[in-house]
Amino acid sequence: GMGDPALGAAVFKKCQSCHQVGDQAKNRVGPQLNDILGRTAGGLEGAKYSKSMIQAGKDGLVWSEDTLDSFLESPKSLVAKTRMSFRGLKDPEDRANLIAYLRSFSNG
Ligand code: HEM
Repeated sequence: GMGDPALGAAVFKKCQSCHQVGDQAKNRVGPQLNDILGRTAGGLEGAKYSKSMIQAGKDGLVWSEDTLDSFLESPKSLVAKTRMSFRGLKDPEDRANLIAYLRSFSNG
């Protein structure tokens, strides 16, 4: 994608009540999101997940730009019983910018 990470930092404010990124990032309500690109869904040791997120990972869901775009647009459309209570981001540019921001905390 061609997102702008600086603009994505502002979009990430919608995630910060539940998620952290960066050097000091810890698991909170949601898992920390460092190295999210390439992570198997439900696969971070020490984080709390729903059974359906863990199952999605076992079924092969890996976080890529495409799968993140889909999940962030409509979480329950991708993982029906996810316990991530977030309505979703309808604006494709917001999603692209946010994913670019998350990529800046990923090595993959
Ligand atoms: C899971 C991203 C907003 C709570 C996840 C996952 C991602 C993600 C990528 C899967 C992580 C993994 O498999 O390790 C985001 C982004 C957000 C956002 C980018 C903002 C646009 C929120 C908000 C909350 C939340 C606002 C709390 C109200 C959770 C929870 C999970 C989760 C509880 C685990 C879901 C489950 O196990 O079913 N999030 N999230 N997230 N998120 Fe979010």
